[in-house]
Amino acid sequence: MTPHIEAKKGDIAKTVIMPGDPLRAKYIADNFLENPRLVNQVRGMLAYTGTYKGKEVTVMGSGMGMPSIGIYSYELYKEYEVEQIIRIGTAGAYTKDLNLYDLLLVQKCYSESSYGSTQNGSKDEFKEASFPLNFHIQEAAQELGKHLTIACIHSSDVFYKENDNFKELYERYGCLACEMESFALFHNASVLGKKAACILTISDNLVTKEETTSRERQNSLKDMIELALESVLKI
Ligand code: HPA
Repeated sequence: MTPHIEAKKGDIAKTVIMPGDPLRAKYIADNFLENPRLVNQVRGMLAYTGTYKGKEVTVMGSGMGMPSIGIYSYELYKEYEVEQIIRIGTAGAYTKDLNLYDLLLVQKCYSESSYGSTQNGSKDEFKEASFPLNFHIQEAAQELGKHLTIACIHSSDVFYKENDNFKELYERYGCLACEMESFALFHNASVLGKKAACILTISDNLVTKEETTSRERQNSLKDMIELALESVLKI
Protein backbone atom coordinates (compact mmCIF):
# COMPACT_ATOMS: atom_id res chain seq x y z
CA MET A 1 0.00 0.00 0.00
CA THR A 2 1.07 3.59 -0.68
CA PRO A 3 -0.34 6.89 0.66
CA HIS A 4 -2.71 7.03 -2.33
CA ILE A 5 -3.30 3.43 -3.43
CA GLU A 6 -4.72 0.72 -1.19
CA ALA A 7 -4.19 -2.21 -3.58
CA LYS A 8 -1.94 -5.05 -2.48
CA LYS A 9 1.23 -5.48 -4.50
CA GLY A 10 0.02 -8.41 -6.61
CA ASP A 11 -3.30 -6.68 -7.30
CA ILE A 12 -1.86 -4.43 -10.01
CA ALA A 13 -0.84 -5.80 -13.42
CA LYS A 14 2.49 -5.06 -15.11
CA THR A 15 0.61 -2.92 -17.63
CA VAL A 16 -1.72 -0.10 -16.62
CA ILE A 17 -4.05 1.83 -18.90
CA MET A 18 -4.73 5.27 -17.44
CA PRO A 19 -7.63 7.49 -18.48
CA GLY A 20 -7.85 10.82 -16.64
CA ASP A 21 -11.35 10.17 -15.35
CA PRO A 22 -11.73 7.33 -12.81
CA LEU A 23 -15.27 6.70 -14.08
CA ARG A 24 -13.76 5.95 -17.46
CA ALA A 25 -11.61 3.34 -15.77
CA LYS A 26 -14.82 1.82 -14.43
CA TYR A 27 -16.41 2.00 -17.89
CA ILE A 28 -13.45 0.15 -19.42
CA ALA A 29 -13.50 -2.47 -16.69
CA ASP A 30 -17.28 -2.99 -17.03
CA ASN A 31 -17.33 -3.14 -20.82
CA PHE A 32 -13.99 -4.53 -21.97
CA LEU A 33 -12.35 -6.61 -19.24
CA GLU A 34 -13.00 -10.18 -18.17
CA ASN A 35 -13.39 -10.71 -14.41
CA PRO A 36 -12.54 -7.15 -13.35
CA ARG A 37 -12.02 -6.56 -9.64
CA LEU A 38 -11.88 -3.21 -7.92
CA VAL A 39 -8.41 -2.81 -6.40
CA ASN A 40 -8.37 0.87 -5.43
CA GLN A 41 -10.93 3.43 -4.39
CA VAL A 42 -8.86 5.79 -2.24
CA ARG A 43 -10.01 9.35 -3.12
CA GLY A 44 -12.34 7.78 -5.68
CA MET A 45 -9.40 7.07 -7.99
CA LEU A 46 -10.87 3.77 -9.13
CA ALA A 47 -8.55 1.00 -10.31
CA TYR A 48 -9.64 -2.36 -11.68
CA THR A 49 -7.57 -5.37 -12.56
CA GLY A 50 -8.88 -8.03 -14.92
CA THR A 51 -7.94 -9.67 -18.18
CA TYR A 52 -8.38 -8.64 -21.81
CA LYS A 53 -8.45 -11.64 -24.18
CA GLY A 54 -6.72 -13.53 -21.37
CA LYS A 55 -3.94 -11.00 -20.66
CA GLU A 56 -3.84 -9.30 -17.27
CA VAL A 57 -4.22 -5.53 -17.27
CA THR A 58 -5.10 -2.80 -14.77
CA VAL A 59 -7.14 0.29 -15.65
CA MET A 60 -6.88 3.22 -13.28
CA GLY A 61 -7.78 6.92 -13.34
CA SER A 62 -4.92 9.41 -13.21
CA GLY A 63 -6.85 12.55 -12.32
CA MET A 64 -6.21 15.80 -14.19
CA GLY A 65 -2.86 17.51 -14.48
CA MET A 66 0.77 16.66 -13.80
CA PRO A 67 0.72 16.68 -9.99
CA SER A 68 -2.03 14.05 -10.02
CA ILE A 69 -0.65 11.70 -12.69
CA GLY A 70 2.78 12.34 -11.21
CA ILE A 71 1.75 10.84 -7.87
CA TYR A 72 -0.13 7.84 -9.23
CA SER A 73 2.37 6.89 -11.93
CA TYR A 74 5.31 7.20 -9.52
CA GLU A 75 3.67 4.91 -6.97
CA LEU A 76 2.61 2.41 -9.64
CA TYR A 77 6.10 2.18 -11.13
CA LYS A 78 8.04 2.28 -7.89
CA GLU A 79 5.88 0.41 -5.35
CA TYR A 80 3.77 -1.85 -7.57
CA GLU A 81 6.52 -2.71 -10.07
CA VAL A 82 4.40 -1.64 -13.01
CA GLU A 83 6.44 -1.84 -16.21
CA GLN A 84 4.35 0.26 -18.57
CA ILE A 85 1.60 2.82 -18.41
CA ILE A 86 -0.46 3.78 -21.44
CA ARG A 87 -2.28 7.05 -20.86
CA ILE A 88 -5.48 7.55 -22.86
CA GLY A 89 -7.00 11.01 -22.91
CA THR A 90 -8.41 13.92 -24.82
CA ALA A 91 -6.59 16.88 -26.34
CA GLY A 92 -7.31 20.29 -27.80
CA ALA A 93 -5.97 20.71 -31.36
CA TYR A 94 -3.60 23.59 -32.14
CA THR A 95 -4.12 23.28 -35.92
CA LYS A 96 -7.15 23.27 -38.18
CA ASP A 97 -5.63 20.25 -39.93
CA LEU A 98 -6.77 18.01 -37.08
CA ASN A 99 -10.43 16.99 -36.90
CA LEU A 100 -12.53 16.16 -33.88
CA TYR A 101 -12.05 12.48 -32.91
CA ASP A 102 -8.69 12.17 -34.72
CA LEU A 103 -6.39 9.80 -32.85
CA LEU A 104 -2.89 10.95 -31.91
CA LEU A 105 0.05 8.91 -30.69
CA VAL A 106 2.41 11.14 -28.72
CA GLN A 107 6.03 10.81 -29.77
CA LYS A 108 7.23 13.66 -27.58
CA CYS A 109 5.79 16.50 -25.61
CA TYR A 110 6.94 20.01 -24.87
CA SER A 111 6.18 21.70 -21.54
CA GLU A 112 7.05 24.88 -19.67
CA SER A 113 6.17 22.94 -16.51
CA SER A 114 8.55 22.86 -13.54
CA TYR A 115 7.62 19.20 -12.92
CA GLY A 116 10.96 17.81 -14.13
CA SER A 117 13.16 20.40 -12.47
CA THR A 118 11.30 20.05 -9.17
CA GLN A 119 11.35 16.24 -9.35
CA ASN A 120 15.04 15.68 -10.12
CA GLY A 121 16.58 18.87 -11.49
CA SER A 122 15.90 17.96 -15.13
CA LYS A 123 15.91 21.04 -17.35
CA ASP A 124 14.54 19.20 -20.41
CA GLU A 125 11.65 20.99 -22.08
CA PHE A 126 10.79 17.90 -24.13
CA LYS A 127 10.05 14.38 -22.88
CA GLU A 128 9.68 11.35 -25.10
CA ALA A 129 7.34 8.38 -25.07
CA SER A 130 8.92 4.90 -24.97
CA PHE A 131 9.77 3.76 -28.46
CA PRO A 132 8.99 0.02 -28.00
CA LEU A 133 5.57 0.83 -26.55
CA ASN A 134 4.78 3.23 -29.36
CA PHE A 135 5.87 0.57 -31.82
CA HIS A 136 3.32 -1.90 -30.37
CA ILE A 137 0.59 0.76 -30.48
CA GLN A 138 1.35 1.53 -34.12
CA GLU A 139 1.30 -2.19 -34.94
CA ALA A 140 -2.09 -2.59 -33.24
CA ALA A 141 -3.48 0.49 -34.99
CA GLN A 142 -2.44 -0.87 -38.35
CA GLU A 143 -4.13 -4.21 -37.67
CA LEU A 144 -7.32 -2.48 -36.48
CA GLY A 145 -7.31 -0.16 -39.50
CA LYS A 146 -7.22 2.94 -37.28
CA HIS A 147 -5.33 5.99 -38.48
CA LEU A 148 -2.87 7.46 -35.99
CA THR A 149 -1.19 10.84 -36.26
CA ILE A 150 2.25 10.64 -34.65
CA ALA A 151 2.62 13.94 -32.84
CA CYS A 152 4.64 16.32 -30.76
CA ILE A 153 2.17 17.83 -28.30
CA HIS A 154 2.06 20.51 -25.63
CA SER A 155 1.64 19.26 -22.07
CA SER A 156 0.36 22.22 -20.07
CA ASP A 157 -0.09 23.03 -16.39
CA VAL A 158 -2.89 25.48 -17.15
CA PHE A 159 -6.25 24.84 -18.80
CA TYR A 160 -7.71 28.33 -18.52
CA LYS A 161 -5.22 30.89 -19.84
CA GLU A 162 -5.88 34.61 -20.06
CA ASN A 163 -3.83 34.81 -23.27
CA ASP A 164 -3.42 31.49 -25.00
CA ASN A 165 -0.09 31.30 -26.85
CA PHE A 166 -0.99 28.11 -28.72
CA LYS A 167 -0.13 29.58 -32.13
CA GLU A 168 3.42 30.25 -30.97
CA LEU A 169 3.76 26.73 -29.53
CA TYR A 170 2.54 25.29 -32.82
CA GLU A 171 4.91 27.41 -34.90
CA ARG A 172 7.98 27.24 -32.67
CA TYR A 173 7.86 23.65 -31.41
CA GLY A 174 5.44 21.91 -33.78
CA CYS A 175 2.99 21.11 -30.99
CA LEU A 176 -0.16 19.80 -32.71
CA ALA A 177 -2.37 19.61 -29.64
CA CYS A 178 -2.55 20.15 -25.91
CA GLU A 179 -3.21 17.99 -22.87
CA MET A 180 -2.01 18.18 -19.27
CA GLU A 181 -0.40 14.92 -18.14
CA SER A 182 2.09 13.26 -20.47
CA PHE A 183 5.15 15.37 -19.52
CA ALA A 184 5.03 14.14 -15.90
CA LEU A 185 4.22 10.58 -16.94
CA PHE A 186 7.12 10.40 -19.42
CA HIS A 187 9.45 12.03 -16.90
CA ASN A 188 8.61 9.50 -14.18
CA ALA A 189 8.98 6.58 -16.59
CA SER A 190 12.40 7.81 -17.63
CA VAL A 191 13.59 8.46 -14.05
CA LEU A 192 12.47 5.00 -12.91
CA GLY A 193 13.59 3.06 -16.00
CA LYS A 194 10.03 2.18 -17.05
CA LYS A 195 7.90 2.65 -20.17
CA ALA A 196 5.13 5.11 -20.95
CA ALA A 197 2.95 6.04 -23.91
CA CYS A 198 0.04 8.35 -24.55
CA ILE A 199 -2.84 8.00 -27.00
CA LEU A 200 -5.13 11.01 -27.42
CA THR A 201 -8.46 11.77 -29.09
CA ILE A 202 -9.07 15.32 -30.29
CA SER A 203 -11.99 16.65 -28.24
CA ASP A 204 -11.81 20.30 -29.25
CA ASN A 205 -10.02 22.58 -31.66
CA LEU A 206 -8.59 25.88 -30.47
CA VAL A 207 -8.37 27.25 -34.03
CA THR A 208 -11.83 26.39 -35.36
CA LYS A 209 -13.47 26.43 -31.87
CA GLU A 210 -15.23 23.13 -32.62
CA GLU A 211 -15.93 20.99 -29.58
CA THR A 212 -17.45 17.63 -28.77
CA THR A 213 -20.15 16.98 -26.24
CA SER A 214 -19.38 14.74 -23.30
CA ARG A 215 -21.74 12.06 -24.69
CA GLU A 216 -19.93 12.06 -28.06
CA ARG A 217 -16.61 11.95 -26.26
CA GLN A 218 -17.66 8.80 -24.43
CA ASN A 219 -18.41 7.05 -27.73
CA SER A 220 -15.22 8.12 -29.45
CA LEU A 221 -13.30 6.80 -26.49
CA LYS A 222 -14.19 3.28 -27.55
CA ASP A 223 -11.73 3.48 -30.45
CA MET A 224 -8.95 4.59 -28.18
CA ILE A 225 -9.74 2.00 -25.51
CA GLU A 226 -9.76 -0.79 -28.07
CA LEU A 227 -6.44 0.40 -29.47
CA ALA A 228 -4.83 0.57 -26.02
CA LEU A 229 -6.09 -2.89 -25.07
CA GLU A 230 -5.03 -4.48 -28.35
CA SER A 231 -1.59 -2.92 -27.88
CA VAL A 232 -1.33 -4.57 -24.47
CA LEU A 233 -1.64 -7.96 -26.20
CA LYS A 234 1.54 -7.20 -28.17
CA ILE A 235 3.71 -6.41 -25.14
N1 HPA B 1 -6.20 22.11 -23.14
C1 HPA B 1 -5.69 21.28 -22.25
N2 HPA B 1 -6.09 20.03 -22.11
C2 HPA B 1 -7.08 19.60 -22.89
C3 HPA B 1 -7.67 20.42 -23.84
C4 HPA B 1 -7.20 21.75 -23.96
O1 HPA B 1 -7.67 22.53 -24.80
N3 HPA B 1 -8.64 19.70 -24.46
C5 HPA B 1 -8.63 18.48 -23.90
N4 HPA B 1 -7.68 18.41 -22.96
